[in-house]
Amino acid sequence: MVLFPVNVLSIEDVYVHRSGLPIVRGATVTVARGAVTVLLGANGAGKTTLLEGISGAIPIASGRITLGGTRVERLRAWRRARAGLAHIEQDRTVFRDLSTEDNLRAACPPGRAIDPVLDLFPELRKQISAPAGLLSGGEQQMLVVGRALLGRPKVLLIDEMSLGLAPIVVERLARAVRRLADHGVGVLLVEQFANLALSIADRAYVMARGELVYAGDGSALRADGRLLHALYLGETRH
Ligand SMILES: Nc1ncnc2c1ncn2[C@@H]1O[C@H](COP(=O)(O)OP(=O)(O)OP(=O)(O)O)[C@@H](O)[C@H]1O
Ligand SMILES: [Mg+2]
Repeated sequence: MVLFPVNVLSIEDVYVHRSGLPIVRGATVTVARGAVTVLLGANGAGKTTLLEGISGAIPIASGRITLGGTRVERLRAWRRARAGLAHIEQDRTVFRDLSTEDNLRAACPPGRAIDPVLDLFPELRKQISAPAGLLSGGEQQMLVVGRALLGRPKVLLIDEMSLGLAPIVVERLARAVRRLADHGVGVLLVEQFANLALSIADRAYVMARGELVYAGDGSALRADGRLLHALYLGETRH
């Protein structure tokens, strides 16, 4: 738990359209340095759309996005990445024919070592020469996270790290994400396994039909399954 949170990313009143339709409406989210912030919600709620608007994968229609004190909502995606915003997209992949090591080297700025990633995920060290396409689903996801970390982001946006993975592997990844936050990264995590996500969260948001219907403490939400259910359905606000 962060006692004196420093907001490294602020999203204020953001609207994001797709095909001319307003999908995310008036989202206001803060991500603190050294904290895990989770964004929950049913399928189709607009979570991926919001993350894409934050990273610049798609333009936002209106609102403000501030990263480390600088307004970034008009910057191209690569400039936001360079300013410290890493986005692990929902359909992320590795270069299957390249080895684990070459996948990491391809994402590594010149002169920087890949060892911190191998220290965080020792599983990857064991498979360092294997083609990434032969790694397990969990190891591939570790590689995806590791590649994002090599840019030393201030903020990591993670869209569904659990897709298709066994619960024990998802727990392993969740612990790694918690550790990253404990080392100072601000994490915004979208996750279908709500209870697992809440177990590592400092702060939580729930989105229903494009609007945020909950902003608050992660543990409060974890303790009240009925509230969480009603929020998912968009039947209540809190
Ligand atoms: N290109 C598009 N044009 C119009 N509507 C779209 C487009 N892409 C997505 N949508 C709609 O936007 C809404 C939000 O989709 P989004 O992928 O952001 O939801 P999500 O919360 O990430 O869902 P999931 O949990 O399934 O990943 C959905 O109703 C979807 O049908
Ligand atoms: Mg999604």
